[in-house]
Amino acid sequence: EKYNYGMVGLGVMGRNLLYNIADHHFSIAGFDLDEEKVKELQTGAGPEMKVKGTVTLEDFVSALETPRKIILMVPAGKPVDAVLENITPLLSKGDIVIDAGNSYFEDTNRRIADLASKNLHFMGMGVSGGEKGARTGPSIMPGGDLEAFHLLQPMLEAISAKVNNEACTAYMGKGSAGNYVKMVHNGIEYAIMQLISEAYDLLKRGANLNNDQLYNVFKEWNNGEMNSFLIEITRDIFQQKDSLTDGYLVDQILDKAGAKGTGKWTSEQAMEIGVSIPTIDIAVTSRILSAYKDERILASQLYSEKQITSPENTDLFIREVGDALYLATLISYAQGLALLVKASKEYDFQIPLQDVVKIWRGGCIIRSVLLEKFYSAYTKDPDLSNILLDKDIAAIVKEKISSLRKTAAFAVSNGIPSLGLQTALGYFDAYTTESLPVNLIQAQRDYFGAHTYQRTDREGVFHTSWQAANH
Ligand code: 6PG
Repeated sequence: EKYNYGMVGLGVMGRNLLYNIADHHFSIAGFDLDEEKVKELQTGAGPEMKVKGTVTLEDFVSALETPRKIILMVPAGKPVDAVLENITPLLSKGDIVIDAGNSYFEDTNRRIADLASKNLHFMGMGVSGGEKGARTGPSIMPGGDLEAFHLLQPMLEAISAKVNNEACTAYMGKGSAGNYVKMVHNGIEYAIMQLISEAYDLLKRGANLNNDQLYNVFKEWNNGEMNSFLIEITRDIFQQKDSLTDGYLVDQILDKAGAKGTGKWTSEQAMEIGVSIPTIDIAVTSRILSAYKDERILASQLYSEKQITSPENTDLFIREVGDALYLATLISYAQGLALLVKASKEYDFQIPLQDVVKIWRGGCIIRSVLLEKFYSAYTKDPDLSNILLDKDIAAIVKEKISSLRKTAAFAVSNGIPSLGLQTALGYFDAYTTESLPVNLIQAQRDYFGAHTYQRTDREGVFHTSWQAANH
């Protein structure tokens, strides 16, 4: 008997996704170079599951029904190419290879072309939700060959998260659109995490809240309009006791952030195609800055501790920080989604923005009730270039903007770093300003480099021979 699906890579994500598929009555074979992992797969499988572990690619490939549908869950980069090099000679015309890792979209484009030349389909598919999501229902972002997508669709819909009975998976567009959408998802993820960490700092150092109080604040936030996965896990983090000391674990964790690259790619892409996403950029660079721990210690001694004046009304301050976080988060989504709008045109992905926000409502790391509002906005206008231009979104922004200003001002005057909040506010102020002072930049460019400028009152391109004033 042949198996419906194949999974290459039986690490935590691969194994969990495989079990999820098997839970939904699809038979599936797994392969990993590490025989231990293959054994673990067998022992962990439930009695109802039709699962087979294999230790050679030959056995793996011949266990699959045709056209073969093979999911790769291996680290992005060289490991994907290594698997493809070994497996493609064993495949036959029409087989489909689906890369479910966080691969760079340009790599996916190259692989699509390479496999197409061998009459094979290659698809890039973003999967979000971490270990638990993979096992119980992730958000799934497939893109590429439509025919191949339709073959997978019933399985993807079965295993994905559900919101209002709707599956958190949809076709994200042509070519490597699936990877691109997942990349931007991660960029937004970086921004929101940065903003939450700043809110934490403001409440902890600014208003002297302890972990129990922080837990309560995040609990309240999560019970209301700020309900989201990242707020929810942050709430729980403040309750986690340390097994090695008496205190809370969060206080023992070294303040150096890691990163695997998707955030950086998002920023690079935005620069490449000319989209302004400063809150995502700052989130990437803040992780980089966090790694200079030794220098930060030296500098903090050189410039001495800052004096913090706590807010007079703590409850009011907490509310304002909450509103500031909510709005800055909304602005981060706006930036990421605007990048998708531009990329969709630039690369001809034809990304359905409405479906993107729809399938981000559940399963993924950036799921939040806010997505429902974005979904409504795109339902009204699928071609919306920026969600800040939607009238209902604007009403929310207007309600919260003064809190963002007050919170950012508090951070600035007390020397509490708040790069994320400030850039969200700065982006908003620049985006909503009709006349920016860049007329002056254009004048300077033309002055020293004859770079020319356009005028507000007539068509055409102008150059002036600027004169030094008499001093
Ligand atoms: C997800 C996550 C997942 C992974 C991040 C972590 O959507 O499930 O985004 O893909 O946890 O890539 O990225 P960093 O290691 O760069 O923080």
